[in-house]
Amino acid sequence: MTDRKATLSVGDKSIELPIYSGTVGPDVIDVRGLVQEGVFTYDPGFVSTAACESAITYIDGANGVLLHRGYPIDQLAEHSDYLEVCYLLLNGELPSEEENKRFHDTIKNHTMLHDQMRNFFNGFRRDAHPMAIMCGVVGALSAFYHDQMDVTDETQRQITAHRLIAKMPTIAAWCYKYSLGQPFMYPRNDLSYSENFLQMMFGVPCEEYKPNPVLAKAMDKIFILHADHEQNASTSTVRLAGSTGANPYACIASGIAALWGPAHGGANEAVLDMLAEIGDEANIEKFIEKAKDKDDPFRLMGFGHRVYKNFDPRAKVMAQTAHEVLTELGLENDPLLKIAQRLEKIALEDEYFVERKLYPNVDFYSGIILKAIGIPTSMFTVIFAMARTIGWFSHWNEMVSGNYRIGRPRQLYTGSEKRDYPKK
Ligand code: CMC
Repeated sequence: MTDRKATLSVGDKSIELPIYSGTVGPDVIDVRGLVQEGVFTYDPGFVSTAACESAITYIDGANGVLLHRGYPIDQLAEHSDYLEVCYLLLNGELPSEEENKRFHDTIKNHTMLHDQMRNFFNGFRRDAHPMAIMCGVVGALSAFYHDQMDVTDETQRQITAHRLIAKMPTIAAWCYKYSLGQPFMYPRNDLSYSENFLQMMFGVPCEEYKPNPVLAKAMDKIFILHADHEQNASTSTVRLAGSTGANPYACIASGIAALWGPAHGGANEAVLDMLAEIGDEANIEKFIEKAKDKDDPFRLMGFGHRVYKNFDPRAKVMAQTAHEVLTELGLENDPLLKIAQRLEKIALEDEYFVERKLYPNVDFYSGIILKAIGIPTSMFTVIFAMARTIGWFSHWNEMVSGNYRIGRPRQLYTGSEKRDYPKK
């Protein structure tokens, strides 16, 4: 609690509002009492609004800092694997060696899907977008575990977390296999999390699949870098859905839906679409001009970020990983990737982008890596969703294990005043 106060004058009234400090980061002004004074705060896009208290992730956008439970993202990417980061996000501390091993084993025990889930996949059109399938299938998980979804029971919440972490790669890979018409590959528990994902994506039952360690490591880095990102649009969606008491699978499905948009998780797919549209290095200037033209809705996909106005610390790790993957696959001269490199260089020097602090974000590089690995663009957001599930779940879990109220924003009403229905 605090004895510091902010004073707000509204007309001839002076209203005192408590100020709270977090561990690090900006203070917040508690405006909850304002409704009694007959005024609301107005913040479309939640640019200046702290919607909750959280101890999971900290971002300092001005300085390009991202911490999970206090640990910098670049250190986690270097020293951890994705499952260890999942444990950290979920439980608040890094696991001991024994806890880490047990956690890895537990996740392996949950990798298979109920066999009836195949029917859900089969219900989709062959050309359905894999995000549409994932959204539906994850929501449908609640139909399989309805006796273990008591949000007030900590043990049930933990089991749900394990199920989601373990099953998301299987669901994601099956979305892809379904679109190809290839048999679904079962998970292989002798492989690591990311190797197993590659195996389910690219393996076929008639041949043994040997995952490439450089590509598996790159996938693991992509998973780590996408695991959580504070109160972004999809996480806030999960929290809002969860605030009604909705079950965790439904809440995660709502997060997947929110992630789908091109301004959020759909951006890495949009990056590749944009590179294909540019088509040739000779066209880059034209597209840069389009991006700068205020009468043209076109934006350079993979550039800019709501919070990072310096650089995206995840993008630094991704840029290095992109280099490793392209070298491993001998793709340094791929035409699309050449366009990407040239675009990055031009945008980093162009006054418009420099002035507005529009740096390449994580999606710019993750799209390039995923393409090089052979993953189709329609699967990019699916992979983001799979990795982000632990972030969504950890926020949902944090919320439902504390005191929370249903989320219910208000509005500045600009519609018609009361009027009578016209007489006929
Ligand atoms: N290309 C051209 N101009 C841009 C871009 C861009 N990618 N991004 C922002 N601007 C301009 C914008 O027009 C505005 O200019 P002005 O001040 O002259 O009106 C200024 O920069 C500030 O932009 P904004 O729209 O106020 O910024 P925002 O914080 O609302 O939007 C964003 C952030 C990420 C939605 C936006 O930068 C964007 O659309 N980027 C492209 C899509 C993308 O890469 N999204 C992935 C984000 S990272 C993944 C994640 O965390 O979800």
